[in-house]
Amino acid sequence: MKLLNLFFLSHLLLIPTIASNQPFEDGFISGVISNKGLDFAKDLLIEKGIETIVFVKLPKIENTAYVPLVGNAKVTLSDIMIKDVQVNTSNIMIGESGIVVVVTGAIVDLSMKWKYTVSSWLLPFGISDSGTASIKVTGMQVGLTLNLKSKDGTLKLSLLDHGCYVGDLSIKLDGGAAWLYQLLVDAFQDIIASSVEEAISDQITEGIVKLDNILQALPKQVSLDKTVSLNVSFVGNPVLSNSSIAIAINGLFARTSEVFVPQSYKNGFKVSSACGGLPKMIKVSIHEDVFKSASLVYFNAGKLQMVIDELHDQALLNTAGWRFIVPQLYKRYPNDDMQINISASSPPVIQVSYQDIGATLSVDITIDVLEGGEIIPVACISVDVSASCGVEIIGNNLSGSLKLQQFSAYLKWSKIGKLHIRLIQSLISSVLKTAVLPYLNHQLKSLPLPNIDGYGFQNTVILYNYPWISLCSDFSFTEDDYYFIQHSNYVS
Ligand SMILES: *[C@@H]1O[C@H](CO)[C@@H](O)[C@H](O)[C@H]1NC(C)=O
Ligand SMILES: *[C@@H]1O[C@H](CO)[C@@H](O)[C@H](O)[C@H]1NC(C)=O
Ligand SMILES: *[C@@H]1O[C@H](CO)[C@@H](O)[C@H](O)[C@H]1NC(C)=O
Ligand SMILES: *[C@@H]1O[C@H](CO)[C@@H](O)[C@H](O)[C@H]1NC(C)=O
Ligand SMILES: *[C@@H]1O[C@H](CO)[C@@H](O)[C@H](O)[C@H]1NC(C)=O
Repeated sequence: MKLLNLFFLSHLLLIPTIASNQPFEDGFISGVISNKGLDFAKDLLIEKGIETIVFVKLPKIENTAYVPLVGNAKVTLSDIMIKDVQVNTSNIMIGESGIVVVVTGAIVDLSMKWKYTVSSWLLPFGISDSGTASIKVTGMQVGLTLNLKSKDGTLKLSLLDHGCYVGDLSIKLDGGAAWLYQLLVDAFQDIIASSVEEAISDQITEGIVKLDNILQALPKQVSLDKTVSLNVSFVGNPVLSNSSIAIAINGLFARTSEVFVPQSYKNGFKVSSACGGLPKMIKVSIHEDVFKSASLVYFNAGKLQMVIDELHDQALLNTAGWRFIVPQLYKRYPNDDMQINISASSPPVIQVSYQDIGATLSVDITIDVLEGGEIIPVACISVDVSASCGVEIIGNNLSGSLKLQQFSAYLKWSKIGKLHIRLIQSLISSVLKTAVLPYLNHQLKSLPLPNIDGYGFQNTVILYNYPWISLCSDFSFTEDDYYFIQHSNYVS
């Protein structure tokens, strides 16, 4: 026990205090896991660790010893199995050299079978007996030091050091002679103890390798659809401070062939786990450039377009509805259906402010007449729209709502003569309010947040802090892994 304390203390002493503000070079989405989050992760790690340790079978132990008045006893202990592990106290500590997890005062229950044969000159044929026993280990201490580094866009978890030390061990025999009990205590106790220590150490080594394999297998790019993907490569090494771990991913949208080169982002960012005074487990921050890259990529992919052939006021989509207002339209194309083609003329400008996300977009609204299976563009109106987007979390879903701030419109060209500006304004207003915004708001509703293996965000709050928008959240088991299953199909 003394040994362990020294061993881990020496590690902790090596851990210098480091400033919690360190810049990442080009990470546009960062995650900071606070003390509270680390505690949660540690408890989860221990819980999963215990699951892998329970039912572990220890190797058979055989020994021969001379027992006074009895003779030479050959004793075999077999089917030694860990039945239960209880952890009372555990701690996680972070320093520059790594992450230290220490479990103290753990209790381990084991069961085993025993068997002996005794032979002596008094008993030429020998005697033998067998039975079961239970073992209780108390005051067990386990410690491990982990290192987390980024390598070629993925995270690498390695085990720097680990140890397992059994405190006290007691044996309870079901049956058996008094001398056997004494023999087990005298000649076997230490062997059993080191066998337990070895088995648990092996499980730790294996467990960390498994965890590392999971990290290595994380995708570097997630395809959102056929042409657009999100770069989820890790950048820079995780920044460890005494109260948090910060990681960053590139986080920019890219078209399969293009790479977005950000203009405004130069100085790196300050990692902070502050959530406006709220104790949250994790803070995920998204830089404005993430939205800018999305805007550019979707624009270049020709995705910022929509055709409206249904309106609240359907009469507006037939030339007859315009008979008295634009007589020349009705004269040239009597009673023809119309459609409205809305297409962005430049990538939308998206800015994160201190209270919402602002979007300015320029669109060309083309009025098409449908005649004899042909689409005939008859007029085009240029519109500049500014809108604000508020983000909300409902359950495990992210939901955005767009509000129209203002718009201006002018006639770009027309084959049906001059259109009255008041007319244009009211048409555009109607199209924006009754078709475009409801459509976009519907699209922005209920975007499920990632849910991994049943664990999802809970009690999430949104913080706007130009040029970042942050989600401060707790993690909990939600069981609803619908999103992960659905979307893992797209993971490349
Ligand atoms: C963590 O480090 C900061 C300085 O960076 C220090 O003020 C604070 O007391 C430290 N906290 C703990 C728990 O050691
Ligand atoms: C757990 O630890 C607390 C104090 O840290 C102690 O009072 C309690 O007896 C321990 N429980 C067990 C089962 O060891
Ligand atoms: C993804 O991000 C990493 C790190 O910033 C970068 O090295 C890599 O080139 C990016 N990949 C693409 C396809 O943009
Ligand atoms: C919509 O208009 C854009 C240009 O303004 C054009 O490129 C696109 O082909 C049109 N789409 C349809 C379906 O007419
Ligand atoms: C979250 O979104 C999913 C699917 O998009 C939906 O089924 C669920 O009802 C939503 N939950 C809430 C609380 O809005």
